[in-house]
Amino acid sequence: MFPLKNKIFLFKIFNYSRFFVYTLEGFPIIMVQKFFGLRRKPNPPPPKDHQEKLIKTIINMIEEDINNIQKNIYSETLVLPENPIIHWKRYIEIFKDSFHSSIRKKNNEYKTFSEDLKVDEKDLPKYYKRNFHFQTDGYLSDKSAQLYSHQTEILFRGSLALTRRVLLAPVLSYIKKQNRRLKILELACGSGESTEILLSSCENIELTAIDLSSSYIKYAEKKTKNYSNIKYLNLDALNLDHFEENFDIILSSYLIHEMPEKERNLVFKSAYRKLNHLGLMVTIDSIQLGDVPDFDWALLNFPKDFHEPFYMNYIKRPILNFMENNQFTNIETNIRFLSKCVTGLKQDPNLET
Ligand SMILES: C[S@@+](CC[C@H](N)C(=O)[O-])C[C@H]1O[C@@H](n2cnc3c(N)ncnc32)[C@H](O)[C@@H]1O
Repeated sequence: MFPLKNKIFLFKIFNYSRFFVYTLEGFPIIMVQKFFGLRRKPNPPPPKDHQEKLIKTIINMIEEDINNIQKNIYSETLVLPENPIIHWKRYIEIFKDSFHSSIRKKNNEYKTFSEDLKVDEKDLPKYYKRNFHFQTDGYLSDKSAQLYSHQTEILFRGSLALTRRVLLAPVLSYIKKQNRRLKILELACGSGESTEILLSSCENIELTAIDLSSSYIKYAEKKTKNYSNIKYLNLDALNLDHFEENFDIILSSYLIHEMPEKERNLVFKSAYRKLNHLGLMVTIDSIQLGDVPDFDWALLNFPKDFHEPFYMNYIKRPILNFMENNQFTNIETNIRFLSKCVTGLKQDPNLET
């Protein structure tokens, strides 16, 4: 429809506007937090030039993103802006909700849920039933599912979707190079952000996405309703025995920083068992201490401002070690901004020639 040059210009505009819009959307929420006396000086403080470093990192990612689109690694539809009416209506809900989450934060309440929420506690792991980030109903209500992705984008100034697809690009290229249909399992798909990237970019896959939250699954299902090669299941990532089949790729994004260390290890152990020989484990999550020393201050402050009880332990225990301890080989790490993608291969010793 548009000449390529104009299209690229448009994609750049979309990416930069996301950064500005979400940054602006953060200010009224900061005012609410100030009203409740919740803002504090970061300790440890950021380096003096951190704003410039942040902007430079985002500009580099935007260039990489455009490059990936030109190379057809992922679908350009991922960069298009959403309907502004839906966006602003949701923002108003997020703004109203920021009063509730601020009150919860002020009172350090992290186990409060709406009265009408019916959740069978028996079926949920102990660490799970809480208000992660002090968010309303944790992961357990439809409303939380509707607001989640937008809320996290505000927190990361509109960079999260961009980071996700740039980090997933090598995995998407790998999938496209295979001349067979790959079976992929996504653990903790949430509201379907990575799910949508996979589905819109790779045709030759059969994707199964699981999550503990039926509300988040419902939301993800709606978002990806045009695809027939996806199956959603309300299951625990810590127990994959439900599956008789094995997978070529098992992927999780932003799951393990919210788990205690023991459960984190269990994710890698269960995934290893359910991968085919030469299957790939893909873990996208927050960077950890020392990955980008300039951002260590941000990692150390994060769990002081949000209810993230396992994050401090997470940043001190490299994902790489969990992979090595669970027999993964050829481990590779790719870092972008505040996130990283760690991949590891299952080489079944019984099948080696
Ligand atoms: C931070 S969100 C990330 C969601 C999504 N992957 C993304 O990238 O936006 C964490 C998700 O993990 C899910 N979750 C946490 N523990 C889980 C478990 N043991 N099994 C399945 N899902 C789990 C939550 O319900 C939530 O949807």
